[in-house]
Amino acid sequence: MNKLLFIVAFALLTGCSSTIPNYYEPWQSDYHKQFNDIRIQVVAHGLLAPSAHNTQPWIVKLDKDNYDVFELYVDSERLLPETDPPSRQITISQGTFLETVRIAADQLGYSMGMELFPKGEYGTSDSIQEMQDLPVARVTLLRNIPKEEPVLMQMENPQKVDLYSEIFHRVTNRTAYYGNPLTDDEMSVLLSLNNNPNLLLVFFNDAASLEKIRSLTISGVKVEATTEQTMSETKRLFRDSEKEKKEHRDGITVMSGGLKGMKLQIVQFFSNLFPMSWEKMGDIWLKSETRNINSAPTFAMIISNDNSRKTQVETGMLYSRFQLKASQMGISIQPLSQVLQEYPEMAELYQQVHREFAEDGQTIQILVRMGRAEDVLHSPRRDLTDILSN
Ligand SMILES: Cc1cc2nc3c(=O)[nH]c(=O)nc-3n(C[C@H](O)[C@H](O)[C@H](O)COP(=O)(O)O)c2cc1C
Repeated sequence: MNKLLFIVAFALLTGCSSTIPNYYEPWQSDYHKQFNDIRIQVVAHGLLAPSAHNTQPWIVKLDKDNYDVFELYVDSERLLPETDPPSRQITISQGTFLETVRIAADQLGYSMGMELFPKGEYGTSDSIQEMQDLPVARVTLLRNIPKEEPVLMQMENPQKVDLYSEIFHRVTNRTAYYGNPLTDDEMSVLLSLNNNPNLLLVFFNDAASLEKIRSLTISGVKVEATTEQTMSETKRLFRDSEKEKKEHRDGITVMSGGLKGMKLQIVQFFSNLFPMSWEKMGDIWLKSETRNINSAPTFAMIISNDNSRKTQVETGMLYSRFQLKASQMGISIQPLSQVLQEYPEMAELYQQVHREFAEDGQTIQILVRMGRAEDVLHSPRRDLTDILSN
């Protein structure tokens, strides 16, 4: 009898079912086809973009008078005040969204015109009202004149099609990496994605840099993991049961750490029964991140010459292309943002990493580890209608 009760409880708590869970629906490659409006179709792809803590901090307002136009705003209810007080990462996450939308528009036969911050940039602190008033971008979709031979067109530009399909495969991989450092050829393909003179893409493969970056990034994780406010914020966005994933459809899950199948169900089942303290969660996270950071053969940074909101959005656009292309080349990526975060407990490490790897006045916007890895499952996504606003 006890055994039967256990099985029933397990099935209920893990949400065992043969149908695809709601939080995975947006990952279906035909998800966008249920909508008639091309603006909604392309925005459906934007939902799959990477975002800080998987907050998906986007609001889209469709222009009621011009059916080619929509505006993108930051969702000011989805900020990370403890780990990202100036909302720098949240702003980078606007860029990842816009670039994913641009690639989708291109694939669906539209050119995307985009004006960033058409009413001016929001400020760096206490800018919630400004975020609500000032759009990040005004986007216009223009139908391309159909070419006579679309098949030929695809052959002329295979990368265009490949990056599009990669939107549905790309994932932030939080497992241990293996294999050799990136080759010169691989790095030069990725370097060619950067056409922004204000942004620098830099790779690190040499032993001295690896040692410094590993030590700094592990120290950064330690600070976040042992500081109550920051670890509690990360814990708040940790979805450790099927119920939470289905309800919130955002946040970080154990799936990106490589758990799947029955193992995943068992871990989620016990996390649900015995919730963890922030200290315990921080401890487990620090151990796994230390292993993961030490396993990575290559690191990369995106460094900018200024730190304007526009530059932050452009960083996100470059990061989006960078990760899609890397994914296509079989290279896994995980951002390691802790040392780049701007709260008092992190200040010393923030300065140290900038002293070591940036010039005066430059900002390290993105720091990632790279390598080969086993596949992991996707993270949840919200319903498209949740990001549409009247
Ligand atoms: C600006 C930015 C910062 C990020 N920082 C981290 C990080 O420090 N650690 C991490 O594991 N993932 C980081 N990520 C990855 C997100 O957590 C990830 O994109 C999100 O959880 C969605 O998962 P997905 O990329 O697999 O779709 C970051 C992403 C962005 C855009």
